[in-house]
Amino acid sequence: MTGTSTEPADNMPATYPPSADFAATANAGEELYEQANADRLGFWAEQASRLHWSKPWSSVLDWPGNAPDSDYVAKWFVDGELNVAYNCVDRHVEEGHGDQIAIYWEGEPGDSREITYAQLRAEVCQAANYLTELGLRSGDRVAIYMPMVPEAIVAMLACARLGLTHSVVFAGFSPAALRQRVDDANAKLVITTDGQWRRGKAAPLKDGVDEALSQPGHSVEHVMVVRRCGNDVPWTDGRDLWWHDTVAKASDEHSCTGFDAEHPLFILYTSGTTGKPKGIVHTSGGYLTQTAYTHHYVFDHKPGVDVYWCTADIGWVTGHSYIVYGPLANRATQVVYEGTPNFPDEHRHWNIIEKYKVSIYYTAPTLVRTFMKWGHQIPASHDLSSIRVLGSVGEPINPEAWRWYRKHIGADSAPIVDTWWQTETGAIMMSPLPGVTAAKPGAAMAALPGISAKIVDEEGNEFERGGTEANGYLVLDEPWPAMLRGIWGNPQRYKETYWDKYSAQGWYFAGDGARYDEDGDMWVLGRVDDVMNVSGHRISTSEVESALVGHHKVAEAAVVGASDETTGQGIVAFVILKSSAGEAADSLVNELKAHVSRDISPIAKPREIHIVPELPKTRSGKIMRRLLRDVAEGRELGDTSTLVDPKVFEAISAAK
Ligand code: PRX
Repeated sequence: MTGTSTEPADNMPATYPPSADFAATANAGEELYEQANADRLGFWAEQASRLHWSKPWSSVLDWPGNAPDSDYVAKWFVDGELNVAYNCVDRHVEEGHGDQIAIYWEGEPGDSREITYAQLRAEVCQAANYLTELGLRSGDRVAIYMPMVPEAIVAMLACARLGLTHSVVFAGFSPAALRQRVDDANAKLVITTDGQWRRGKAAPLKDGVDEALSQPGHSVEHVMVVRRCGNDVPWTDGRDLWWHDTVAKASDEHSCTGFDAEHPLFILYTSGTTGKPKGIVHTSGGYLTQTAYTHHYVFDHKPGVDVYWCTADIGWVTGHSYIVYGPLANRATQVVYEGTPNFPDEHRHWNIIEKYKVSIYYTAPTLVRTFMKWGHQIPASHDLSSIRVLGSVGEPINPEAWRWYRKHIGADSAPIVDTWWQTETGAIMMSPLPGVTAAKPGAAMAALPGISAKIVDEEGNEFERGGTEANGYLVLDEPWPAMLRGIWGNPQRYKETYWDKYSAQGWYFAGDGARYDEDGDMWVLGRVDDVMNVSGHRISTSEVESALVGHHKVAEAAVVGASDETTGQGIVAFVILKSSAGEAADSLVNELKAHVSRDISPIAKPREIHIVPELPKTRSGKIMRRLLRDVAEGRELGDTSTLVDPKVFEAISAAK
């Protein structure tokens, strides 16, 4: 676990209450907690009522809990039917907001598009019509492997409209990772682009799809290609289809039907502690209810007034819930940006905020720390006065970065919402409420109204709020509407990963450490398992290890996440070479880094690789990662008494 200090820096306030002005017009007041506490399910029913349902639900929740043989699969809004895309698009047009901008899209090379809700509706209908013509039917899976272009959002919504289950694969992932995900979900269609802009240059993307599909035995019938960069792409006649020849020529009228509240909306793969990535399954009614609810209250979003910008990529859950579904369900006007924060220069985000008068800005701590490194003079040279709410997600935000964020981006007044949640939770679970909570730098503070979380020890004994300040495990002790409904095709792994640890109580084990401070506020401390968090991206140690041992010169590998000033954690690998590998050289280290980058993604590329003669193991043969983390972080070694050969560290230190 990474520790976070609650001690305020010299002369710094320990808490930041909302201003009276902010509180006076805030969406959420104190009573929201009272309302939810008084009648939790009634509260969720009220939140769900903000959506359009084509058939009402018969009961709010059906939860097997820890009954014998429980599958831990909740049903929310039982028997209810809704169309997610209708809720995100058509509804707003029908209510007279067709001319409101849904998306201010800012392309990497500086091109831009404004898309109204009426235009978005037309494009989603065209895509829905063409996907129907292709023979896709409700329940089929579609892989989306695209950069941040409007068509990616259109593709997701078109799937939702037809009841197709999408699986978005981050466009930075390798062809091998794409193939693994395509196979796991048996996707019939892949939607991609000809290329993606990276620092002013077109990088290939469609080629990656071709490579992924080069070996036979896959389920893909068609590859749909959006022309983004204009570069040449290899073409497979009969299989490949240009978006502009097909979707863009289809009718823009499409009438949709409702789907069951539990219809699977999407699968999103995320790293676990062992084995291949898990396909997290999310369904429709509860997911949309909670993403819309949280987006409305946590960001204090006012439709038609605010300009909202979440800097995530749609390849991650934050992009699903807080670019696509939550904001669009709430009729947001939002910025969608294709590129990186420092292209063409380090002013890019602030230019965009100035240009569109962004009022709600949601990003990750790693980026805040990067901005700090670049210097406050950069944002200071822009008019950021439109900003009124700041958000943080992906990892614990250190108090120093929190204060910098508020001071230099939020004019020392914007509330910061530090939002804790996971791919599995589908939506924000813990966060301050900006008009209510006296926030503390670095603390997610408390579960949102309607959500219940506890901190417990190994045996499940509950910590008392404001009692001990010891570190424990975070559990969610009541089901929530946006909760995952399983791991695609693997109910056993679902049970084992999330429910077995506290099966007696029927609690969801989040895999995070947490503690209460003396006031009873919650601090999330980071992962307690072998999942690393690099720049807010979840990567498992075992995934990187198996990529490394997949290299022909590597015999064994152990990977740890070592703390890193900017990225939160950095990947440090210890590798034993095969005797046939010859002398270890710098060039080999670079080759291994490139190998991991190719095999998984550049985000999984180790920061350091140390070639060592041995790895520290317990008598039962387990690699002692805790000790390797000590080495990687330059600390005194912890307890080495369980090691087979404590001397192994002399060899490792010599190699480092
Ligand atoms: O360790 C927690 C950390 O990110 C993990 C979830 O990662 P992922 O599924 O990729 O979703 C990231 C975006 C929701 C959690 O188990 N995490 C996320 N947000 C926070 C956080 N840790 C502390 N504070 C947060 N605000």
